[in-house]
Amino acid sequence: MLVLGIETSCDETGVAIVEDGTRVRSNLVASQVPIHAKYGGVVPELASRNHVVNLTPLISRCLGECGLTLDDVDAVAVTSGPGLVGSLLVGLSTAKSLAYVRSVPLIGVNHIEAHIHANFLGEAPPEFPFLALVASGGHTCIIECADYGQYRLLGQTRDDAAGEAFDKVAKLIGLPYPGGPSIEKSAVAGNPQAIDFPRPMTDKDNLDFSFSGLKTAVLYFVREHGPLVQDGSATGTSRADLCASFQAAVVDVLIRKVQLAVRKTGIRTAVLAGGVVANQSLRARIVDEAGLDASRLHIPHLDYCVDNGAMVAAAGYFRLQRGEHADTTLNADPSLRIGTPAV
Ligand code: KG4
Ligand code: ZN
Repeated sequence: MLVLGIETSCDETGVAIVEDGTRVRSNLVASQVPIHAKYGGVVPELASRNHVVNLTPLISRCLGECGLTLDDVDAVAVTSGPGLVGSLLVGLSTAKSLAYVRSVPLIGVNHIEAHIHANFLGEAPPEFPFLALVASGGHTCIIECADYGQYRLLGQTRDDAAGEAFDKVAKLIGLPYPGGPSIEKSAVAGNPQAIDFPRPMTDKDNLDFSFSGLKTAVLYFVREHGPLVQDGSATGTSRADLCASFQAAVVDVLIRKVQLAVRKTGIRTAVLAGGVVANQSLRARIVDEAGLDASRLHIPHLDYCVDNGAMVAAAGYFRLQRGEHADTTLNADPSLRIGTPAV
């Protein structure tokens, strides 16, 4: 079965054709990074306008790349939330039209669920039950996945997402958007112990996160000690040291919460998802430090960590297998929740 996946929840326009929920035939992303970079973050109005410009040509290219036409598509999956409402609506209206004219099922997919399903693309999908850490520019949460479609939200951020913290700190110290890759690059030459930034919420026996205080701690540090000096200077704080110390704080928090989730649930199989898991320091440290089983840790290929259409097609396929699909009343839900919250 060939599923067309459409992702427009934030700033990336993603389109893919995935066979049987696992084999990617084509996956294209029209990045809007250059458009939003000069603002240091995503501008919602610009994002939706550019989805309108990008989406239809991207669908044509995606089909053309694997020698298919719309007639070959068996179902259309689309992100219906959470995300920016204007952006979501562009994907939804396009998906609805295509499903309607082709008389094929339309499947609405939760964006977080889609990120988790990035781990099903390929030969060795994770076995249930597993824990999922989703860390991106818009979301940071830990979910217990008992089976296909059975999700329990164990904890989430109470304010900024981890990626958002990277983006805001980068802006604060004059590094380009998106902040994650910029900070990671600068951190390579820095000392992660140079500045003792807080590890918010790690003293709490719950799986919630909070990153806005950490961002403020960086702001106060820069105000008090700035300006940052050149890397390698004998005195003062370098940008590399600040980046390495900030990155270490975020990674510590993410790892400690996964460690707590392992302790609370007894589940040692895990999947990582979302743009932040592109971070090499997180990838390198998480198995040993979070108490996971190395052979049962799944991390998507970098192309599928960030927002993309293939993960949406995969999640849509497995929904359809369970007999779940939508009709043309499907609407955007900017704060769509996944699973039942753990209280
Ligand atoms: O999943 P994604 O593409 O979009 C959202 O759904 O938000 O994630 C983008 C986020 C951005 O905040 C970006 O700064 C962050 O992921 N990110 C990283 C890295 N690469 C991207 N954060 C830390 N380290 C990275 N290498
Ligand atoms: Zn995302």
